[in-house]
Amino acid sequence: MGFYADHVFPRLMELCMGTRKSQEQREQALASVQGIVLEIGFGTGLNLPHYPKTVTWLTAVDPAILLQKTVAQRSAELSFPVELLHLNAEKLPFEDGRFDCAVSTFTLCTIPDAIAALREVRRVLKPGGTFVFLEHGRSDDEKVAKWQNWLNPIPRIIACGCNLNRPIDALIRQAGLRLDRLDRFQTPGIPRIAGEMYRGIATPQ
Ligand SMILES: C[S@@+](CC[C@H](N)C(=O)[O-])C[C@H]1O[C@@H](n2cnc3c(N)ncnc32)[C@H](O)[C@@H]1O
Repeated sequence: MGFYADHVFPRLMELCMGTRKSQEQREQALASVQGIVLEIGFGTGLNLPHYPKTVTWLTAVDPAILLQKTVAQRSAELSFPVELLHLNAEKLPFEDGRFDCAVSTFTLCTIPDAIAALREVRRVLKPGGTFVFLEHGRSDDEKVAKWQNWLNPIPRIIACGCNLNRPIDALIRQAGLRLDRLDRFQTPGIPRIAGEMYRGIATPQ
């Protein structure tokens, strides 16, 4: 990590991904989350205010240490404990079947080996547990998808490894999760290359 990744990018994330629109999307995506929860790619804790009261424990993983004071403030306002571990989601140090729910928002675009992370999610979910996701990714419109491929190197640099063109639903299926719900929509006001959204719920097969 460097100065940009540690100090500039997290503030940009707060600005771009903490908008009212994004808060509404988070609220909707997280509405069914309950019990003992794992969040992968926690970032600056933008999801924390949107977890429902049905959550009893949150374990969050992210290799980066970002805006510690902000995270501490957000965590202090919650009715459940937050355990934050600085590690990669591709190899999780948890026993099989530990979590009721797992959550990923705007993270499958960035994790270097997203399928490995999703396989770990599948492993650590209880039978009947749910994986809840809200992600941007590859467009179904081939013209937009071509632009996403061409422009992909730019966010990889300025957004610390983010990819515009990942087919989120395909990655989830490839990891052995079954898609029980998938909503596709575009975020208004965001160029389609970055605003093609995937929101849904998947369960271990
Ligand atoms: C665009 S940010 C999204 C943060 C947060 N999920 C949100 O919705 O605001 C992507 C996050 O993925 C994290 N990340 C990168 N590589 C990762 C990995 N291997 N495992 C878990 N998280 C990772 C980054 O550090 C960053 O915090």
